[in-house]
Amino acid sequence: MKKSSNISTEIRSIFLNFFEKNTHKILSSSPLIPKNDPSLLFTNSGMVQFKDWFIGNYKPDFKNVATVQKCLRAGGKHNDLENVGFTPRHHTFFEMLGNFSFGGYFKEESIELAWKLLTKELELNKKKLVITVYHEDDVSFNVWKKISGFSDDQIIRISSDDNFWSMGDDGPCGPCSEIFFDNGNNFKGGLPGTKNQDGERYVEIWNLVFMEFQKKKGSLKKLPNLCVDTGMGLERITAVLSGKKSNFDTDLFETIFKDIEKISGKKKNSNLENSFTIISDHIRAIVFLLSEGILPSNEGRGYVLRRIIRRALMHVHKIKPNVLILYKLVESVVKKYSDIYFELPKGKNFIKENLKNEETKFSETLGTGIELLNKEISILKGDKFSPEIAFKLYDTYGFPVDMTTAILNEKKITLDSTEYKSIVQLNKNKQKKSWKGSGEIKENNFLVNLKNDLNSTNFVGYDKHEIKAKLQSIVVKNEFKESIRAKSENLILIFNSTPFYAESGGQVGDIGSVYNEKNELVAEIVDTRKAPGDIFLHFVKNNNLDLEIGSFYYLKIDFERRIKIRNNHSATHLLHESLRQILGDHVSQRGSLVNDDKLRFDYSSNKPLKISLTNKVEELVNNSIRSNMKVIIQNKHLKNAIDEGAIALFGEKYPDIVRVVSMKDNDKKNILTSIELCGGTHCDYTGEIGFFKILNDSSIASGIRRIEAVTGNEARNHVSHKIYLLDEIKEILKATDENLYEKIENLKKDNLNLRKGSTTKTNLFSTDNILSMDNLKVYFQEINCESKDLKNNCDIIKNKFDSGIVVIYSVNDSKVSIVVSVTNNLVEKYDSVELLKKIIKFIGGKGGGGRKDLAQGGANFSLKINKLKNSLKKVLEI
Ligand code: SER
Repeated sequence: MKKSSNISTEIRSIFLNFFEKNTHKILSSSPLIPKNDPSLLFTNSGMVQFKDWFIGNYKPDFKNVATVQKCLRAGGKHNDLENVGFTPRHHTFFEMLGNFSFGGYFKEESIELAWKLLTKELELNKKKLVITVYHEDDVSFNVWKKISGFSDDQIIRISSDDNFWSMGDDGPCGPCSEIFFDNGNNFKGGLPGTKNQDGERYVEIWNLVFMEFQKKKGSLKKLPNLCVDTGMGLERITAVLSGKKSNFDTDLFETIFKDIEKISGKKKNSNLENSFTIISDHIRAIVFLLSEGILPSNEGRGYVLRRIIRRALMHVHKIKPNVLILYKLVESVVKKYSDIYFELPKGKNFIKENLKNEETKFSETLGTGIELLNKEISILKGDKFSPEIAFKLYDTYGFPVDMTTAILNEKKITLDSTEYKSIVQLNKNKQKKSWKGSGEIKENNFLVNLKNDLNSTNFVGYDKHEIKAKLQSIVVKNEFKESIRAKSENLILIFNSTPFYAESGGQVGDIGSVYNEKNELVAEIVDTRKAPGDIFLHFVKNNNLDLEIGSFYYLKIDFERRIKIRNNHSATHLLHESLRQILGDHVSQRGSLVNDDKLRFDYSSNKPLKISLTNKVEELVNNSIRSNMKVIIQNKHLKNAIDEGAIALFGEKYPDIVRVVSMKDNDKKNILTSIELCGGTHCDYTGEIGFFKILNDSSIASGIRRIEAVTGNEARNHVSHKIYLLDEIKEILKATDENLYEKIENLKKDNLNLRKGSTTKTNLFSTDNILSMDNLKVYFQEINCESKDLKNNCDIIKNKFDSGIVVIYSVNDSKVSIVVSVTNNLVEKYDSVELLKKIIKFIGGKGGGGRKDLAQGGANFSLKINKLKNSLKKVLEI
């Protein structure tokens, strides 16, 4: 090998080329978030994506495979978080080089391949290698002897778990053989398997696992095939081949360290080395987790991410307090890996934005928390720290207890972890909230395993909506049937070919009908979904006529519904792109639902969409609809699609050939260019969408918002309904388009003033409230104010009311208060006190008093008050 300054890149390609030459299919890394495996928090080794192939749930697609897999060990069974910073070779995030065989080769060939790669391709000196095997594994022992020419004492038999690898409590497992590199006698540490093996002299570089069993409820069950799973940490082999003692001294970390120095202005000297190491490790884990759409939160994976960020920030604080450094390191991680993991450059702004948010939030409390911790330490008598204060640090300042413990350890102070745990328990600590799985529906076992018996369905629904197809299987209650009588219930039909789209990528499954050759309706399909292996399941509630496998039927989708769905799907792409243009390209899709009624789009953002921005988003989408762009769908190589700017979803693993949906019109301005990787159905021209309208934007989780929108006729109906409502309101308020806004504003002001009891003159008096009784005018009004303010309000009215009687009242806490007043010119003729008494009597009360010109009284509330206005002439006897 050349050993350039970029050894890690060289090693990746030597490894993959070597296995490709040796009949292995090269597959890409799966995401860090395992699909459909609620037993696992993160992908922690190369074999995770193949678990179902090992245990025989699915038939393997390939016999021999090699990968470079991104892994995270920061939670669950394999957790190295606490070790990072204290050893030269532990990481939270790392890459694992692995070759796998599923019933192809076994011990002999995998040992041979490993030996050849290490000694020939990577040119390691065989004298520097040491081998271990499981103590009972004579086969491996003898193969190693033959291939390496080592003497018996260079091949160490080990009986512990170190040489029996298992994935978890229920996973595949088997004996393993490990290859160690000897750093030489300048380093401390004994041979593997000996008492002082933990030193730095012997580094484990490659683990060859011979998978033979699966753990099941404590006992071992034979796997259907003998399999091989090997794993070599890229960081370790890079250190060995670079002649470095520590993984952190390799090219993989070089630019990160340089950037920390540049941004902080501090050197990586021995005082700060541990902090530099922790930050450089953690920033990689942070960037990769965020790139898969995981956001810091208080539970599950998001909580692990939050802990990693906070642990890194503690060390940022040590290097330079009160400055934001972490998010500025995103750039160097992205740069180092952008050629291999396209999700990084794509997600760069999203990663930065979210990390900056978390960094800003935590940094605000970090200083105060550390001060508090230092203060407590300074007044501490003895060497035992209070678990209550440790909990307060966690609860109020967000310090994970391992941080507190780490700081205490440096000062040789202890924390009673049992007592701490019981406090945590008492406070229903959030850490206890368990992770609930990926949320994906895992089909029942029968459906999952259909793949082993049936071929994939040929989906023709992108171009056709009606075809003739052969019925291959009928499934009723998880059993295959040869035929089925009419009026049977809950069937699943599987055809060799179908135009029915099966639910995926947020788009709902098609519905439609099945006809026989006589054009009689046989069954209605109420939903279509996919079983693993691309087997399309057509769900039928009740069939009209008999069905028989081997017969041909006509399958016809509800095409009108499909048209609405595909319009909504294309509109979703335009919406996504429009949000990225208006809010910034850190916006990313977090989920979607596309059906025939509406579309739902979940996206990352911390702020609500203001009305003005909603309008802009709608305008951009509608411009793009009206420009009637052709929707172009092509299959391309993943790399080419990404290079052209295609949006890929976070945390998705895409195949080498992807379907790319593009809408663009290079000549026009204010039109979106949307390129997305997508398997869904779309309109042919954007004009078919017709019209786009957002219904609402709401928050559904921290940092995640949801937009619901409609298109076409639904959008038109929505807008018509809104206009109708507006017209009704105008009618009620006797307003026009021009003064509606002002009228509502005035009403709001009046209401506020009345509530405050300090009505302004202009807003209180209205001639609409004057009743004419022969030649006498009576001002009558219910006022929304406290009873003590009625007299003041009466004065305000009287200033505007030259001659007549004023009757005003308010209702508060089931009491009615009434003020009656007579203008000066009429006091000889009418007595306010008398008039008031008559009103009070009418509503069922007693009393009332005051002067001739002004009187006030009250009664318990009675519905009669609502009749007063119409009966006033009679009641007042005028
Ligand atoms: N699964 C084994 C490990 O993680 C080998 O890949 O060590």
